[in-house]
Amino acid sequence: HGDFNQKIDYVFKVVLIGDSAVGKSQLLARFAKNQFSLDSKATIGVEFQTRTLVIDQKTIKAQIWDTAGQERYRAVTSAYYRGAVGAMLVYDITKRPTFDHVARWLEELRGHADKNIVIMLVGNKSDLGHLRNVTSEDAKEFSERENLYFMETSALESTNVETAFNTVLKEIY
Ligand code: GTP
Ligand code: MG
Repeated sequence: HGDFNQKIDYVFKVVLIGDSAVGKSQLLARFAKNQFSLDSKATIGVEFQTRTLVIDQKTIKAQIWDTAGQERYRAVTSAYYRGAVGAMLVYDITKRPTFDHVARWLEELRGHADKNIVIMLVGNKSDLGHLRNVTSEDAKEFSERENLYFMETSALESTNVETAFNTVLKEIY
């Protein structure tokens, strides 16, 4: 994605949130580096990656922040959300509790982030359809009620990862 000598028109901060092990870090690895690892370690604190892309002839640097889903490893909440213009709220389609917790994540997000933040609800691990425990209909219904974008992704198979991030970035822009 070489951003050597590139003029940056906009820098957009996007945060990843959601329960532990839903695949936040692997979605980021897929989007930023086109990499994926099955033995991904739980995130401790905060990490971020950037990717520069062109949307409508503008060069946009996406700065994607990733923190731990586990409470004890999480970053300082207010600092994490500060300045974020987009958010990916991730659950695992095979783990019902991760979807049931989405409302709580949304509450935290809305309590800390800018009110115009663009939010995408992401049902990850769509490659594990045989283990599905959250229907697309349930998620779609929730996202419509809460005014969120919604997409199912697979970081493993690279399905919709690009589209999910690009949709958020386009909408911010
Ligand atoms: P925390 O850092 O603890 O909050 O977890 P996380 O949300 O960052 O999860 P992580 O990306 O580390 O992924 C957890 C596990 O799920 C790892 O074993 C990943 O390889 C696996 N995983 C992530 N995305 C996918 C996917 O799309 N499909 C499948 N089958 N596994 C995935
Ligand atoms: Mg992680």
